Amino acid sequence: MDGKLYSNDISEVVEADRAHMWHHLSQHKQYESIDPRVIVEGKGMRVWDARGKEHIDAVSGGVWTVNVGYGRVSIANAVRDQLIKLNYFAGSAGSIPGALFSKRLIEKMPGLSRVYYSNSGSEANEKVFKMVRQISHRHHGGKKSKILFRDRDYHGTTIGCLSAGGQQERVAQYGPLAPGFVEVPHCLEYRKQWDVADYGRRAADAIEEVILREGPDTIGAICLEPVTAGGGVITPPEGYFDRVQEICHKYNILIHIDEVVCGMGRTGEWFGYQHYGIKPDFVTMAKGVASGYAAISCTVTTEAVFEMFKDAPADPMSYFRDISTFGGCTAGPAAALENMRIIEDEGLIANTNLMGARVMANLHALAEKHKVIGDVRGKGLFCGAELVKDRKSREPADEKMVAAVVGDCMAQGVIIGMTNRSLPGFNNTLCLSPALIATADDIDQITDAIDGALGRVFP
Ligand SMILES: Cc1ncc(COP(=O)(O)O)c(C=O)c1O
Repeated sequence: MDGKLYSNDISEVVEADRAHMWHHLSQHKQYESIDPRVIVEGKGMRVWDARGKEHIDAVSGGVWTVNVGYGRVSIANAVRDQLIKLNYFAGSAGSIPGALFSKRLIEKMPGLSRVYYSNSGSEANEKVFKMVRQISHRHHGGKKSKILFRDRDYHGTTIGCLSAGGQQERVAQYGPLAPGFVEVPHCLEYRKQWDVADYGRRAADAIEEVILREGPDTIGAICLEPVTAGGGVITPPEGYFDRVQEICHKYNILIHIDEVVCGMGRTGEWFGYQHYGIKPDFVTMAKGVASGYAAISCTVTTEAVFEMFKDAPADPMSYFRDISTFGGCTAGPAAALENMRIIEDEGLIANTNLMGARVMANLHALAEKHKVIGDVRGKGLFCGAELVKDRKSREPADEKMVAAVVGDCMAQGVIIGMTNRSLPGFNNTLCLSPALIATADDIDQITDAIDGALGRVFP
C-alpha cells in the first residue's frame, strides 16, 4: 500500500459531499461544523480516509461486508473482463457467471438447489416473503400466509423487511407496516426471559406458543438469522435450532434463514445455519457474497419450493412473477465466483475459526480487566462484547458511553462497530467482524485499542 491519494487536494470532494451527499444512518447537522468522513482507499484490512489517515477496519466496510479484504485485483479483473464481454441482460435469461456461480454455490449448500439473483439483502428477503405468499395463494387456499420473525433480528430496510423487523428503533417512524408478520421472542440467554435450565428449548417453545396463539394454519414460514447480527451478536443457545426445526416440521412451517451477514464464511462455516444442523427451505445472502466488489444477493431454495412454482404450466399466473432489473447484472456473479475462489484457495474459513478463537480469547481477557464487559459472544470472526453498568443487575451501559468507546477506537485508527440505534435501551454491544484474512497481529491491534478505549471511557 503506497497510501497515496489520487490527488494531493481532495477538498473539492469533501465539499461536494457536504453539499450534496445524504449519508446513510447519519444526522447531518454535525457536518456543518466537522468534515464528513470520506474513505478514499483500501488494501487488505486497512482503509485510508480523505486526510490520509490509516485505519484498521474491524467491521469489514462498516457493515460486515468485505469478507476477503480490500484491493483484490483478481476480483476487479474478473468483473472488468465480464463487463466487456456482457455487462447485462435481464434475469429472464441466463448468463455465464450467473449459471456458474449458482452451481458453485449449491455445491456448498446440500439440500438446496435453486438460486434467484437480486441486489441487496433486503431484496433477497422480500423474494422469500413473496414466495411464501404466492405458495399460500396457490397451494393453501390463502391460508399459511403469515411470516414469523424474531425480536432483535433485522432483515432489511424496505417496508416489507421492516415489517419483519425485530429492532424497534429501526422500525419506528416508518409505519404503517405490511400486515401478516408476527414477532416471536429472542433467544439471548444473557437477557433471560425464562428462568429454566434448558434455555434453548424454552426459547424455541416460545415460538410454538405464538404459532398456537395465531393458529398453525395461518403461518407459512419463519425468518431467522442464524446468529443475530445488528441485534447484539446473539449466538443461539444449545438445542435451540433443533427444537425450532421440530416445531416447524410439526406445523408445516417453512424455514427461512437470513445469511445476509453470516453467509460466505463469516462464522467459520460457509453458512451460519451449517453449525446448527438446520435444513432450511430458503436461505438468503448478500454482503459477503462478492465482498462488496459488486452488488449481488441470492435467494436460495430447495427443489421442493421451486417445484411449487411450476406445477401448473398452463396457468399464466403460476410461476414466480417477480423481476429484479439489476439481478441481471453479470458483475455480481463474476465477482462472487472469484470471491469464493479466494476464500477456498487462501483457506479463509480455517483462518476465520483460528482468528475467531483469538478474538474471543482476547475479549474474555479484557472482561477479566474491565468489569463493564458483561457478556462476550461470537462465532468465527463475528464477535460482540455487551457492556453493562453493573454485572450483577446487568443494567445496560449508556449508549453514549458505548459510542464513546467506538469513537476512541476510531481516534486510535481502529474501526469497530456497535448495536446502533436499534434496540431501545440495549444499544450496548460492541461488534467486531474483521475480514476473514485477519492475522493474529491485526486481531491483537483491534482488541488492544478496545482495551485502551474501555480504560479511558470507563475508568
Ligand atoms: C441480517 C440482515 N439481513 C438483511 C439485511 C439487509 O441487507 P441490505 O442492507 O443489503 O438490504 C441486513 C443488513 O444489515 C442484515 O444485517
